Amino acid sequence: MNSVINNPTHPLDPCTAEELTLAVSILRDANELSEQAAFACGFPAEPPKDLVLQFEAGMDFDRLIRLIGHDRARKQSFDAHVSLTNRQLVELNWIEDGQAPVSAADYLRMLELVKADAEWVAAVSKRGIEDVSKVHLEPWVCGQPLPDMHPQARAIRAIAFLSERPQDNYYAKPIEGLIAHVDLDEGVVIVEDHGVVPIPQDGSEYAAAAMDGFRKDLKPLEITQPEGPSFTVEGQVIRWQKWRMRIAVNPVEGLVLYDVRYNDNGRERPILYRASLSDMVVPYGDSSPMHNWKHAFDAGETLMGHGGNSLRLGCDCLGEIHYFDNTILRPDGKPLLVENAVCLHEEDFGILWKHTNAFNPKLPPEVRRKRRLVVSMIHTVGNYEYGFFWYFYQDGTIQLEVKLTGIVGVSLVADGQGTESAPLVAPGIASPVHQHLFCFRLDFNLDGQDNSVCEVDVEPQPIGPRNPNDNYFKTVSRLLRSEQEAQRDNAPERSRVWKVINPNVTNSMGNPVGYKLLAQASPPLLSGKGSLHYQRAGFARHNLWVTPYADEELYADAGPFTNLHSGNAGLPVYTEQDRNTENADLVVWHTFGVTHVPRPEDWPIMPVEYAGFMLMPVGFFDANPALDVPPASHCDSM
Ligand code: NI
Repeated sequence: MNSVINNPTHPLDPCTAEELTLAVSILRDANELSEQAAFACGFPAEPPKDLVLQFEAGMDFDRLIRLIGHDRARKQSFDAHVSLTNRQLVELNWIEDGQAPVSAADYLRMLELVKADAEWVAAVSKRGIEDVSKVHLEPWVCGQPLPDMHPQARAIRAIAFLSERPQDNYYAKPIEGLIAHVDLDEGVVIVEDHGVVPIPQDGSEYAAAAMDGFRKDLKPLEITQPEGPSFTVEGQVIRWQKWRMRIAVNPVEGLVLYDVRYNDNGRERPILYRASLSDMVVPYGDSSPMHNWKHAFDAGETLMGHGGNSLRLGCDCLGEIHYFDNTILRPDGKPLLVENAVCLHEEDFGILWKHTNAFNPKLPPEVRRKRRLVVSMIHTVGNYEYGFFWYFYQDGTIQLEVKLTGIVGVSLVADGQGTESAPLVAPGIASPVHQHLFCFRLDFNLDGQDNSVCEVDVEPQPIGPRNPNDNYFKTVSRLLRSEQEAQRDNAPERSRVWKVINPNVTNSMGNPVGYKLLAQASPPLLSGKGSLHYQRAGFARHNLWVTPYADEELYADAGPFTNLHSGNAGLPVYTEQDRNTENADLVVWHTFGVTHVPRPEDWPIMPVEYAGFMLMPVGFFDANPALDVPPASHCDSM
C-alpha cells in the first residue's frame, strides 16, 4: 500500500477508498467474520479531542478506522476498530443491544424474501396484482421485532406500492393494509393484512416528463462571480471572510463541522469544536395499524451520510461552487465514490445593515450587502429528502437550516374521509400527522474549552414601586448547573434563549463572552410516555440538553446501533449521572423540528419546508464585527 495510507494529513480527514479497502482486508484477515457478514459503514474512529486540538502538521498519529456491520451467520452486529498504522484489528465488539444500520444488502434480501413468500403473493393477488415485479417494496425500520419473532431478530418491515411503470410516482398508489414483517437473519416473513382498499387508477405525477406544460414567464437568472468566489479550500479546511472551519462527512451524521473559528482583529477565536446532526426521529401520530409503529431514526438506523446525493451545478446549487466528494463503504466491503456530495458556495443575502440620515439629505445612505457562506448536503431517505444547510454570516452569526421535501407517506381511505390525525391531501388519499425531530450535537469551544450555559427569559414584572406604569419587563437569567437542571424546553412566550458563555473570558464591558442559541418555536416529542417512540427517542423529550464532554458520548441515542435498540442509551442515560455543567468542557444538544400536518399543497411532492436554529454572538465581540465590510463598488459614490 502506498504512503498516503500511512500518512493521512490530519486525524479528521475522511477515509480514502484505499484506507477503507485496507481496513476491510485487515478485519477479514483476522478471521472473526463469516462469509455472510455485510458491512453497513466505515469511517475514521473519532480521534480524541485533545489529540486534534494539539495536532500540528506532520505529527504522527494512529489512524483508526471503525467498521460496522452485521454477520448473518452469527445473527449479531459487529463494531470493529482497525489500526491502519499498525495494520491490526484493535478491537471487535459484538453488539448485545441494537444492531448495525440497515444496508443495501438488507434491502435486497428483504426484496428476495418477501416477493418469494406465498402468503404475501396471495395478499397482493387479492388486490388484483398478479405480477409482483410491478410492486415496489419500501423497507421500514420498526424499532422492535414482532412478539412471535426472536427478540434479537434482524427485523424489518416492508410496505408495498403499485409501480406499473418505472417512471411513475408509486407513492401515490399504496397497497393499503398490507405489511410484511421480515426476519432477515432467519429468512422468515410474517404477513399482516388489514383488508383491501382499491388502488386509485389515476397517478399523481410530478416528474418533468409527466407534465403537460410549464409556465412560460420565467426569465433567466444567472449568478456570476467573474473573479471567483471569496473562499479558499485546502484539503478539508475552508476559509471565508473571517471564518475558518474543517468539514467531513460521517456515514451516520452526514456533514460534520470541526473547529469553527472567527478571526477577530487578527485573533482566531474558537467557537465550536464540533457540530453535527446526532440523530433524528420521525414519530407518526396516527393510530392506524399502517402507521402507529413508525418512528424512523434516519441517521442512526439508515445512515444519513450514505443518503447524500450527488449534487448538480445549476440544479441543486447556483453560482461558483466547490464540491467535496464522499467515499462510502458498500456492504461487500468495497468503497464507493459519491461525487459532489457537499456543496460549498457563497450567496448574497440582502442587506447586512443600513442607515439613512433622515435630517441631512446630502449625506449618502450607508448600506452594506450581506453575504453568507453555505455548506450543504441533500440526502434521500426513502420517500423523503432532507437538506442540511449551514450558513456563516459576516457578523459572526451561524445558522443551521434543514430543508424538508420529497413525498409524504399516505394511506388510501375507503370512505374518502380524512381524520384529525390523517388529513386528506388528495381525494381518497390521507397523510398521517408526524414530527421530524432533529437533535444537533454542538460541542462548544467558546474562547476555550470551559463554558457554561444560561437560560435567559424575558419576563413582564408586577406593578410596584419599580413598575408604576406597568411597562416593565426584563431579562431573567438562570445558570444551568447540572445535567438534570439543563433539560429544558422552548418557551417562545418568554422569548427564551440559551446562552453559552465563557465565564473565564470577558469582553470590553467586563461581561463573559457568549453566543446564544436561538431556537424556533417547535415542541419536543408529542408521542406519549407509553409509546415505543418515547422509549427509544429519549433525546426528543426535550429541546435542550447539556452534558460535560466525554470522548465516548458522541450520540444522542445508540448512534450506529440505534436500529432495533431498546432505547436505553444516549442522553437520558448520560444525564442520569447529573454531572456538573458549570464552567466545564460542554456539549449542548438541541432538539427541534417540524410538526407536520400534511396539506393538499404537500401533494404529490412537498414544497420545501424549513426548520433550524441560529447561533448569534452576544457580547462575544465588543461591537458589530461587520463594520469593515466595504460598500458595494457601485454604491460608494452615490
Ligand atoms: Ni413531514
